[in-house]
Amino acid sequence: MCGIVGYIGNKQACEIILKGLKRLEYRGYDSAGVALLNGDLRVYKKQGKVLDLEESLEGKNIEGTIGMGHTRWATHGEPNDKNAHPHQSPTGDLSVIHNGIIENYATLKEGLLQRGHTFKSDTDTEVLIHLIEDIMKNANLSLQDAVRAALGQVVGAYAIVILSKNHPEHVIAARKGSPLVVGIGKERGEFFLASDATPIVEYTNQVIYIKDGEIAIIENKELTIKTIDNVIQTPYIQELEMNLEQLEKGGYPHFMLKEIYEQPKSIFDSFRGRIDAKSGNINMRSVRDYQEKLSKVNRLILIGCGTSWHAGLVAEYLFEDLARVPVEVEYASEFRYRNPVIYPDDLIVSISQSGETADTLAAMELAKQKGATVFGVCNVVGSSIPRLSHGGAYTHAGPEIGVASTKAFTAQVTVLTLYALAMAKQRETLSSSRIKQLMKEMEAIPGKVEQALKLNDKIYKIAELYKDAKNFLYLGRGYNFPVALEGALKLKEISYIHAEGYPAAEMKHGPIALIDEEMPVVVIATNNEHYEKLVSNIQEVKARKGKVIAIVTEGNTGLNELADHIIEVPETENCLSPILNTIPLQLLSYHIAVMRECNVDQPRNLAKSVTVE
Ligand code: F6R
Repeated sequence: MCGIVGYIGNKQACEIILKGLKRLEYRGYDSAGVALLNGDLRVYKKQGKVLDLEESLEGKNIEGTIGMGHTRWATHGEPNDKNAHPHQSPTGDLSVIHNGIIENYATLKEGLLQRGHTFKSDTDTEVLIHLIEDIMKNANLSLQDAVRAALGQVVGAYAIVILSKNHPEHVIAARKGSPLVVGIGKERGEFFLASDATPIVEYTNQVIYIKDGEIAIIENKELTIKTIDNVIQTPYIQELEMNLEQLEKGGYPHFMLKEIYEQPKSIFDSFRGRIDAKSGNINMRSVRDYQEKLSKVNRLILIGCGTSWHAGLVAEYLFEDLARVPVEVEYASEFRYRNPVIYPDDLIVSISQSGETADTLAAMELAKQKGATVFGVCNVVGSSIPRLSHGGAYTHAGPEIGVASTKAFTAQVTVLTLYALAMAKQRETLSSSRIKQLMKEMEAIPGKVEQALKLNDKIYKIAELYKDAKNFLYLGRGYNFPVALEGALKLKEISYIHAEGYPAAEMKHGPIALIDEEMPVVVIATNNEHYEKLVSNIQEVKARKGKVIAIVTEGNTGLNELADHIIEVPETENCLSPILNTIPLQLLSYHIAVMRECNVDQPRNLAKSVTVE
């Protein structure tokens, strides 16, 4: 939520910042702004996309080799020019950009109002920069000390960057709860700051992830990292794994479509080197390091939000079915606030694409406080969730830029399948030959996804017929009930059509009342033990004149007369079918959204990385 970029070096900052903001726009896109330091401190901001800001800069003085920029996802104050960042101090000497929420801003603001401050915006962020200047003036502190003193008063989450007119060649940044990374440029004294590495990768692969409670000070061409209590820290420089090509659309009209089509590779990358179908061995560091823990675990608690929660729901079936371990799947936001009962032999698994979701992080912290072992299944390398975990695995899906999650979901399900197989092996709940058979089939999945992607033209035609529907229903059973939820979520978030996912048998307990000739019902009816039951559910929908789009296993002709549309996916093991069955649903929602002229990669009101509660 909210993207921040900073630059200090010998190049012109504005161009680097605008380019960086475009890469971070997936984090928020309701307004944007830049501040440039070049003797004076100039701030330009604009409601709308980064492109609107860029156009508004035409003819303006954008000179300067030090600067910062922000793309906003509104929390406090509606999206407009005045609430856009950067915000300035009363004298205009200081400027700040901020990602996060200052929870006690009202109390801090009250104090400042009493001391005569007036505010131009409705944001929590403006309060912070007023507070820093107020402390500098009244306590006669240096900028750095005033920043530390102000942050000491703040309750909430922040990643901030501060520029000061009176401190040229100087940038201060700090982090608590919201991500911040520093890139070390190739020239001496060149540094980049950003919410994640995507704006930096073009210039350097050397980065430092700032930790909670740390302040980064760039001064006289040197970077110093200190704690908020002024203790100097030794920075840990890491090499970035991503490359620029991964951040481009590569000829696709949208990142979402590119990411859907990347799935044969991203799924392969998520199990590559980790399974050996010949020996039935799992080669994962966390499985080795936590062998004893995994074999003794009495219960798994899987936590996540949105699509990652859906991956957790698929994994519930996997772990219970394959490894016979009881599982609970929890929304991170509920788990963290309901005093959950956690036993020492529970294992908590946090699932997250971004690794920065505030509720998931808080839920992990709670579980750790209660003594639990916490694993992370995460896509973004170096993000907060893997750093907070005891163990876990990266999904290796590569950067996911489209706000609607696609390849991250199938990679999460793949990695969770590997854990389920590892536990099945340790607990001997599956025979060694069955494990090898499932691994072999896992190796075939990328090829089968490739085949499923060939359904694109057919799905496009179906999308044309239903693009104006007001509602959609998605039904599935067993392993494919979470796939129904995920299909519905994809459709609603990018096309704004109301959609619900249901376990097919539950339809009779309510949703059936909605069915009439206007209602498209997507039914996942691939071959498994529930198939006959699903046929009955389809009969019930047809009896009420609903339109049925059935996802079936290749070669199944049983529904040809009954369903309005048949989408045939390759045959696979039931436990691996969620990965394959998700593909046509992603394509359906994508085409419907494009036909409705929706902004597929940046749907309204959403942000990719939800770093506020
Ligand atoms: C849906 C989507 C969101 C995320 C959710 C969790 O397409 O992208 O529902 O899945 O915000 O985000 P992560 O996985 O980054 O923790």
